[in-house]
Amino acid sequence: MNVHVYDDAKTASRAAATLFAAQLIKKPDSVFGFATGSTPIATYKYLTKWHQKGLLDFSGAISFNLDEYVGLAEQDEASYIRFMRENLFDHVNLKASYLPNGMAADLSLECARYDAAIAEMGGIDLQFLGVGHNGHIGFNEPADAFVYQTQVVNLTEDTIEANARFFDSIDLVPRQAISMGIGAITQAKGIVFVALGESKAEVVKQMMYGDITPHLPASILRAHQNTVVILDREAASLL
Ligand code: GLP
Repeated sequence: MNVHVYDDAKTASRAAATLFAAQLIKKPDSVFGFATGSTPIATYKYLTKWHQKGLLDFSGAISFNLDEYVGLAEQDEASYIRFMRENLFDHVNLKASYLPNGMAADLSLECARYDAAIAEMGGIDLQFLGVGHNGHIGFNEPADAFVYQTQVVNLTEDTIEANARFFDSIDLVPRQAISMGIGAITQAKGIVFVALGESKAEVVKQMMYGDITPHLPASILRAHQNTVVILDREAASLL
């Protein structure tokens, strides 16, 4: 892993955005992997700004997102499709963007369909990853084994609490999500892992120095050939 520490969240996000911009310039038909949560928002703002200035043309590129809640329709303000439209898709000219459909009648068929769609596009060229406080990537929660395929996951209480800030009440947070599996994530040709703020310092320390274990899913990134870890000083404070 290639670890870079920046003074603050803004310069860290700019660095992450630069890696996505470089990938797009190098390969205009790139397949991007995108994430939700607070971490990527500033990165998406930079990509939007550079696109609006005419510096980036996404028209040949497509994207797959990591995850979506089960049972939230696209009109729902807390759905990840809505988040992605507001923070990126409505502002740039991606050729196509895909998220798992958490409203599908047959969720296991939807998971298989999502993996097949990623494979059909040749896999992901560059994947953005944030991390949950419990070490989850996408919604791959701590477990006894890494799950390779896209799957329906039961969210842990930690995750439900952490994500309650996006809902009017904790009772409205879905208890399940569809998450891209560890397979498609680690098969990405490049990964940009970003952690910002003091609250991520402990999980970053465990990811870097602890065992590679499904009990801390982000630790698998230590076995990935081309992962760039971008941290601000606070997230790096325990290294
Ligand atoms: C959610 C998403 C993850 C994200 C995590 C951290 O659970 N499914 O992909 O990394 O939140 O979010 P934040 O960036 O807000 O800390």
